[in-house]
Amino acid sequence: MRHPVVFTSAHSTSTPQDDEGGRRFPPDFAWGSATASYQIEGAVAEGGRTPSIWDTFSHTPGKVQDGDTGDVAVDHYHRFREDVAIMRELGLTTYRMSVAWPRITPDVGPDALGPVNEEGLAFYRELVAELVAAGIEPAVTLYHWDLPQALEDAGGWTDRRTAERFAEYAVVVAQALSPEVPTYITLNEPWCSAYLGYASGVHAPGRQDPAAALAAVHHLNLAHGLATTAIRAAVPDARIGLTLNLAWVHSEAGDPADDDAVRRVDGLQNRVFLDPVLEGRYPDDVLADTAAVTDWSFIQDGDLDLVHQVPDVLGVNYYSPTVVRHWDGSRPRQIADGHGLTVATPWIACDEVEFPEQPGLHTEMGWPIDARGLTELLVRMHREHPGLDLMVTENGAAFPDVLADDGGVHDQDRIDYLRDHLGAVLDAIEQGAPVRGYFLWSLLDNFEWSFGYSKRFGIVHIDYDTQVRTLKDSARWYSQVVRSGGALP
Ligand code: NOJ
Repeated sequence: MRHPVVFTSAHSTSTPQDDEGGRRFPPDFAWGSATASYQIEGAVAEGGRTPSIWDTFSHTPGKVQDGDTGDVAVDHYHRFREDVAIMRELGLTTYRMSVAWPRITPDVGPDALGPVNEEGLAFYRELVAELVAAGIEPAVTLYHWDLPQALEDAGGWTDRRTAERFAEYAVVVAQALSPEVPTYITLNEPWCSAYLGYASGVHAPGRQDPAAALAAVHHLNLAHGLATTAIRAAVPDARIGLTLNLAWVHSEAGDPADDDAVRRVDGLQNRVFLDPVLEGRYPDDVLADTAAVTDWSFIQDGDLDLVHQVPDVLGVNYYSPTVVRHWDGSRPRQIADGHGLTVATPWIACDEVEFPEQPGLHTEMGWPIDARGLTELLVRMHREHPGLDLMVTENGAAFPDVLADDGGVHDQDRIDYLRDHLGAVLDAIEQGAPVRGYFLWSLLDNFEWSFGYSKRFGIVHIDYDTQVRTLKDSARWYSQVVRSGGALP
């Protein structure tokens, strides 16, 4: 390997060193990019894969902008060698990818995992081998939203059997890809799976039922716990992660009248995932706030012991701040946020909360830019859960990129965003937060869920007609940062 192994528990606890007056990241900091299977692979009917909920959803008219689907995506399934070569050229030391469950056990049902599809495993083995040969350490997300459709037909995340089957599938993947893959992230952003999938319905499976969303919250937490226990038993050296899209929830004026709004959103966005997994309990205030929606009777005796599996590393995904305000009904309610990070929350126990429009710069998603939130979240996690290793498992931005006449993509706005947010990570490290690495979202432009291909998050531009990859200026800038060990030009 060209680079030191990342994530291992033997990491140093060094803090940033001065470099000619500049600030630096720890020498063993992991520098990577992130992607997800449905967003890049394509080849949805190849290799024995069966449909996921995103195949069904994207093929349902009106669900995804311009009728886009992941059928072809960026054809990574056939072009992964080229994509790994790009990462190697950029000097990345790690890569966060996800495995598509419907490639691994295509015939899974609610009561049985079904046979393992060797062709599916073979694809990921080849990809992992290619990464390792390039000196890039893979980190695998086991669930990045492409649930087998057959499981959704039986209730999906509202049914605890989905969590049980997930743990079995997780062991299959970990056994097949270890030790080359040392790190397994159980879930990506369960908030999105539960609330966007089952409450607001803007993500697959597109249901609009707040009680179902809270059942999904619990079964996703259970899935994390069961999978962690099962992997630890089967592959003791595996390093387990959990990735949450934690929200930096605050009010504009810090007005005490807004405190209740902050508490409610923090409860539903952050603590309903953090507390059971890290402390083995659900927050009392969240149970009380949601009492009119559900009695939480889907929590069975002993479940909280099963859920309470502290990961070896907590992944934090951060894009944008979450600003809230108490709403008393005396004026039209503001629900800002183009994407849906907040649009689902008002569906559940947040009738008196509004999300005011923010001044200042926004990304192409309509998300306000404020890097301070990343520092706040990392420092908060360190304060509340000392000793828990942290990774930024996603951070990045969509901007209206264009291929210029000179053949380049001059995305200075993305470079500015990245510089600010990497600076925010350094701020957190300087305040003692044990941040071990950073995964930029995303390596490639890709299928941005209900926005289809209309939003570009990549540092590599994709021409969707030809599948030609072009490094954006941000890719060259990030490469310079990585190769310098974290100097921020
Ligand atoms: C979070 C998700 O994990 C990822 O799939 C998505 O593309 C980015 N955020 C940007 O919205």
